[in-house]
Amino acid sequence: MTGIVIPSSVFGQPPNRARPKKGDWLVFDGGDRNGERITPALLTLNQRPIAALAKEPATNTLRDGSRLNRVMVTKLDLAKLDSEVAGLTADGVIAYSAVCTHTGCDVTNWDPDNLLMACPCHESKFDVYSNAKVVGGPAPRPLAILPLSLGEDAIIVADSFQGRVGFTQQF
Ligand code: FES
Repeated sequence: MTGIVIPSSVFGQPPNRARPKKGDWLVFDGGDRNGERITPALLTLNQRPIAALAKEPATNTLRDGSRLNRVMVTKLDLAKLDSEVAGLTADGVIAYSAVCTHTGCDVTNWDPDNLLMACPCHESKFDVYSNAKVVGGPAPRPLAILPLSLGEDAIIVADSFQGRVGFTQQF
């Protein structure tokens, strides 16, 4: 028997603006594989983080209606992660919010020698092996993390964001 899918817009927020939810697929946002589902095999250890978005499987809706939904994804060495952070990854694949906690720029730079995500606006740096802890610059708190797990054949979202996504206006 096939169930009836009720779009989340019926209850308010359109699904493309809603934050990623448990069971969503994780897909590439841009590049040669734009829109493809992400699997651990498609990523290399300690690679430069790539942009990704969640997709609601039931409606095939890409959650691209808010820039707060974009995450940066890389693959880490599980042996070097503490168990709490390891549990938020899908076989080492980890997803951090792309939005800097300072004033909201996209955190797109990468320091491959020190494995740090870096913000191009005011040089905040975040340690990908330490739950995106701030290790430089003015950012007041770590990037939010999007828990992941392994689905049948690709990565899925395991839960909603941990930590606050976005930034707090400083006066
Ligand atoms: S917005 Fe990222 S360091 Fe200022």
